[in-house]
Amino acid sequence: MNFLQEIARRRTFGIISHPDAGKTTLTEKLLLFGGAIQEAGAVKSNKIKKGATSDFMEIERQRGISVATSVLAFNYKDKKINILDTPGHKDFAEDTYRTLTAVDSVIVVIDVAKGVEEQTEKLVSVCRMRNIPIIVFINKLDREGKDAFDLMDEVEKKLGLQVTPLSFPIGMGYDFQGIYNIWEKNINLFSSDSRKNIEDVIAISDIQNPELDKIIGDKAASKLRDELELIQEVYPEFDRERYLNGTLQPVFFGSALNNFGVRELLDGFIEIAPSPRAKESDTRLVAAEETKLSGFVFKIHANMDPKHRDRLAFIKIVSGTFERNKLYTHVRLGKSLKFSSPNAFFAEKKEIVDISFPGDIVGLHDTGNFKIGDTLTEGEIMNFRGIPSFSPEHFRYINNADPMKAKQLEKGIDQLMDEGVAQLFTLEMNNRKVIGTVGALQYEVIQYRLEHEYGAKCSYENFPVHKACWVKPEDPKNEEFLEFKRIKQKFLAHDKYGQLVFLADSDFTIQMTQSKYPTVKLFFTSEID
Ligand code: G4P
Repeated sequence: MNFLQEIARRRTFGIISHPDAGKTTLTEKLLLFGGAIQEAGAVKSNKIKKGATSDFMEIERQRGISVATSVLAFNYKDKKINILDTPGHKDFAEDTYRTLTAVDSVIVVIDVAKGVEEQTEKLVSVCRMRNIPIIVFINKLDREGKDAFDLMDEVEKKLGLQVTPLSFPIGMGYDFQGIYNIWEKNINLFSSDSRKNIEDVIAISDIQNPELDKIIGDKAASKLRDELELIQEVYPEFDRERYLNGTLQPVFFGSALNNFGVRELLDGFIEIAPSPRAKESDTRLVAAEETKLSGFVFKIHANMDPKHRDRLAFIKIVSGTFERNKLYTHVRLGKSLKFSSPNAFFAEKKEIVDISFPGDIVGLHDTGNFKIGDTLTEGEIMNFRGIPSFSPEHFRYINNADPMKAKQLEKGIDQLMDEGVAQLFTLEMNNRKVIGTVGALQYEVIQYRLEHEYGAKCSYENFPVHKACWVKPEDPKNEEFLEFKRIKQKFLAHDKYGQLVFLADSDFTIQMTQSKYPTVKLFFTSEID
């Protein structure tokens, strides 16, 4: 197979959902289809169960599992599929946002009874910011839930999407009979036997065919005909171009637990989902088909063994091929590096590979060279964009609790921030360090890891901040900006990259500041240009 064929057959995507909607179950069923695992239950859930907030062993277990399931690759038909795992727990949402910079498309799983939930809204809004093609999978049709049309309405309104169904349920819950595949014009009758063969589908090319009444009953048949008519009137016809540019989202229905509707989803997915897409860098758009390597780090995972401080940096290949033992340029450090044992990921195991293609993820052993967002090239000086930080929701001062271990603490904080565990802000006035996180759980993770991996102790102190706003003055020399800096001095800090940040204590303060200093622009993500 040549280089271009290798690119064309790759599908790199993420599955996102609010916890409990069925992401893990769906992932597992997809792997079963790919023959990557033999039995159900092989994919471990990466979620931290409720009540385990202070259970450090649970956190450690979670880290171990999440490295094992970070990338799940398998072949299906003639395609190479890479599923990038996204943590479900909301305290780890930052990790998910970053992973979304490395996917070419996503599948959003929605629980038919719960509809659009909070975490779904946040994650989809990040996908929309980047025009990532989205497929919606409505799950748990074997249970009573919301009416399919109401639910599609809710998806459109709450997520700001425009949807069109490619499959449609016949009944629901107790009356769930199966799924009409609008895309292929056939019916798959529901059976809760997950080993059910796909050959069981019944082709119904003409929905008026009286056979339909015999199969699903008169009442259900006439309801289905009405519903399909309504779909034709109300929803746009599926248009792949619109799906690819993020303006139309196809919807599939099913029951992941019963392995039902999953094959339709997967077959539809491999046909319509994009192969590796071009990516914007700070200098130009880089196409996957270019022969020179480029790629970027989207995730760093510390090794589980605290005695060996090495880490695994996950690189998404954007263009060219990544080859073992070849010299590549680490753009930020201006260094040439080669890697003797790049890992590729296959379902649950990782192995050393000689060559990887655009869309693939390679794991590189790292002793501290990489930060999230770093770019590798064959010499070209450019950096991939689109790895923003969002304002954290919790802020605390971090203090050294063991004066003998100040160096260890500093190193530990530095490395954990490189991994993207949390965000560090250094106050301009007194150099005190403030840690910002998405969830309270991260403080425990940081404290635990500082102690066990770096031998340092820390304590926290509350810092009443509502939001971090990245600051960009229209003119850094004008009087307004200088006054802003003088008046707000106590609340100004620098992030890890030295960007100026205003730590505001309330939305009211933000509004007041914006109206008082209109030329000082405040941004809620770090991607401010
Ligand atoms: P998540 O990764 O999105 O958090 O969800 P996960 O797959 O772990 O699924 C959450 C719960 O929903 C699980 O039940 C799972 O068995 C159930 N589930 C997933 N898909 C379906 C479906 O199509 N129909 C029905 N009825 N249930 C489904 P649990 O009891 O919380 O977990 P477990 O003890 O079964 O593992």
